[in-house]
Amino acid sequence: MSEGVVHITVLPSGPLRVQGHILLTDADGREWDLRGKPAISLCRCGMSEKRPFCDGAHGRNGWRCDAAPPGNLT
Ligand code: FES
Repeated sequence: MSEGVVHITVLPSGPLRVQGHILLTDADGREWDLRGKPAISLCRCGMSEKRPFCDGAHGRNGWRCDAAPPGNLT
């Protein structure tokens, strides 16, 4: 992975895996303490009880998102 680049992977039927130097805040600018975490998984199913983080609820509830995202993938 290139230095300084935040890498986000859209996992099939799962979270967004974010790797790199991450600054994660809420709408009021309060920051989550991510020290020591080289990567995080952000929920995109809406079922996690630890939002914005994935807690595995997508898998326990059979959430599916297999559609290919629109846009130009290379
Ligand atoms: S994507 Fe994992 S709990 Fe929502």
